[in-house]
Amino acid sequence: MTSFQPTAGSFRQGARTLPREAYTSSDVLAEERERIFAASWNCVGRASRLTQPGDYFLAEVAGEPIIVLRDSHGTLRAWFNVCRHRGTRICREPAGRFGETLQCSYHAWTYATDGRLVGAPHMQDVEGFDKADFPLHAAAVAEWEGFLFVHVAERAPAFANVWAPMIGRFARYGLPSLVIGHRVEYQVEANWKLVFQNYSECLHCPTIHPKLATVLPYQSGANDLTEGSYLGGYMEIRPPNESATMSGRPVGRRVSDALPAEDGRRAYYYSLMPNLLLSLHPDYVNYYLLTPLDVGRTRVESEWLFHPQTLADPSANLRDAIEFWDVTNRQDWDIVAQSQIGIHSRRYQPGPYSARESIPAAWDREYLRQMGRRGTES
Ligand code: FES
Ligand SMILES: [Fe+2]
Repeated sequence: MTSFQPTAGSFRQGARTLPREAYTSSDVLAEERERIFAASWNCVGRASRLTQPGDYFLAEVAGEPIIVLRDSHGTLRAWFNVCRHRGTRICREPAGRFGETLQCSYHAWTYATDGRLVGAPHMQDVEGFDKADFPLHAAAVAEWEGFLFVHVAERAPAFANVWAPMIGRFARYGLPSLVIGHRVEYQVEANWKLVFQNYSECLHCPTIHPKLATVLPYQSGANDLTEGSYLGGYMEIRPPNESATMSGRPVGRRVSDALPAEDGRRAYYYSLMPNLLLSLHPDYVNYYLLTPLDVGRTRVESEWLFHPQTLADPSANLRDAIEFWDVTNRQDWDIVAQSQIGIHSRRYQPGPYSARESIPAAWDREYLRQMGRRGTES
């Protein structure tokens, strides 16, 4: 197993970026899968995808094929998409609705949506066979602010404990009632950590995002979560802009009537380990789910959420918000791909972070902690 030693200590002084192997070694990626993704609550998308009994979608969590569904009784479930007969992936359609059961297409073993094996052709002839011994393998599932999370460990820690710092934190935004107005999937030619690190600083905004920089001055705002698995803060929306949109105008009504006046002038950006980036604006919310596809390639699924009244309003210009971030995202994906190329160089060495990169430095510290590497903090 490749081992890399951290050179990044505390940002406080002398923080440096991660070693090359962290971005280029498939052994490190395999270790991340075990130590981080398989040991965390991973976001898999919005609960609004599962409104009716039987609704499901497929997800990949820590490399595991998972069926996330609402069972016949309305309970949220996450099942390993692995038949108890000979291991075949049971379901291949990415989303849909089951009836009372789901059936493996190989030899027709059939499961109730609550995981019980209810049909197993010709197994009655097998001595000692008991269907009760072969339910679907369960993953843990939790819901937070309208987002669904899955944990693949046999004994998952309680979501409410792990995510305690985030429970209730954004209640004023009314996130559970927001609806999806746009979805896009990107493939980024860079290691997943570069996407996190890039999201976590705006030092690059004047050079990479000339449009964004006029709306969200990179020196504005403050970070309010600065250590641990949940990091981020806010930036000030520069007047006369009222939102982070191409025109500067809001796309519709506020996401919630409970937003205090100061949040009407702010945009919040949080990176939430292990795979969620969450951006809160006065009139819309967008988020990103990261899945490492390879050591140098990352799938990013992104959705824009709006108040239901905004979506129902034909005069609302959703494109104003969608384009603002789609343009910005593509600029980001382009530059992190350049980072990935440069980091491969034999001359790459960890480089120094500035004070404007305190969040990426803190993210690296948490990453190293989760990977079982101790930093050289003072
Ligand atoms: S592998 Fe699923 S029924 Fe045989
Ligand atoms: Fe950016």
